[in-house]
Amino acid sequence: MSVTARPWGATREGTPVTLFRLEAPDGAYVQVLDYGAILQAAAVPDRTGRLRDVCLGFDTPAEYQEKHDGYLGALVGRCANRIRGARFQLDGRPWPLAANQPPNHLHGGVRGFDQYLWDHRVQDDALVLTRRSPAGEEGYPGALQTEAQYTFTPDHVLRLTLRAVSDADTVVNLTSHAYWNLNGHGGGDVGEHTLSIDAIAYTELAADNCPTGTLASVVGTPFDLRIPRALSAGWDAGHPQIRQGGGYDHNWALRGRGLREAAVLHAPESGITLTLSTTQPGLQVYTANFLPEMTGKGRAAYGRRRGVALEAQGFPNAVNQPEFPSTVLRAGEPYHQEIAFAFTHD
Ligand code: BGC
Repeated sequence: MSVTARPWGATREGTPVTLFRLEAPDGAYVQVLDYGAILQAAAVPDRTGRLRDVCLGFDTPAEYQEKHDGYLGALVGRCANRIRGARFQLDGRPWPLAANQPPNHLHGGVRGFDQYLWDHRVQDDALVLTRRSPAGEEGYPGALQTEAQYTFTPDHVLRLTLRAVSDADTVVNLTSHAYWNLNGHGGGDVGEHTLSIDAIAYTELAADNCPTGTLASVVGTPFDLRIPRALSAGWDAGHPQIRQGGGYDHNWALRGRGLREAAVLHAPESGITLTLSTTQPGLQVYTANFLPEMTGKGRAAYGRRRGVALEAQGFPNAVNQPEFPSTVLRAGEPYHQEIAFAFTHD
């Protein structure tokens, strides 16, 4: 394995950005930026052996800044997904947050972790990115020291290790918001991709796109992905929850604990399969329902349903739903989650 660094232009404010390439001996690679700890590319072989870059992204830092609200490839923090009413209570004390998607707080606020430059070091085969989020940032209590470690193995497993520690009780929910198109990042609609998820329940959405609190059974619904289903079959199902999300934009309650296989995404055209394993309790599947038409890497056309984000995470709004697995991180306690994306082909 090799990790190489190269200058990659600068932000609009003139701060230089570095791009890291983690390359396997056979030439497959992933690319990560110190800006936002963003996954910028993932080039893996299809069934003919040809490399396809299957991760949506941009060619310049300025584009990541301008179009940040799509969260392409982003490392999302301090708290992924929505917090209802942009507020929570911790031990009786209210904490108002930035309401960047009024009235809710989404993906860490106005300026989430994806919009900061991270410190970096290369440690053996790993790229280690670190960032200290000060107390009060976007309204959160506690200064949070965060580490995102990326590795890429010779057999094409991209592993993301997420660690954090806070100096006061706080809320943490880190994830990767990479969008995948396993036919190639400019490969159009992902409707023919099949997806399976090891879950028998999902968090039902209320009208404000936060969970109602009900864990709804997947049985007999388009959310039953215990056997693989084409994404388009879900979109076209006319289920009220699909209408609410504009497609899939839901969190599945994963079965089991510890690092386990959670989901399998497959593209029949390219033959590429992505198997996601994680320690996280939930998996948000977002079929880019609101992604505006835009130009991505190499002038590729991106937009609605042209990629799918598989966000291994704590449940949305968990801090306000005591029955959900807790996203509270107590002072001095270690936060540690793993997300692994394994790429294979038939
Ligand atoms: C959310 C969507 C949101 C999107 C923004 C997803 O994780 O679930 O509702 O629009 O991120 O890119």
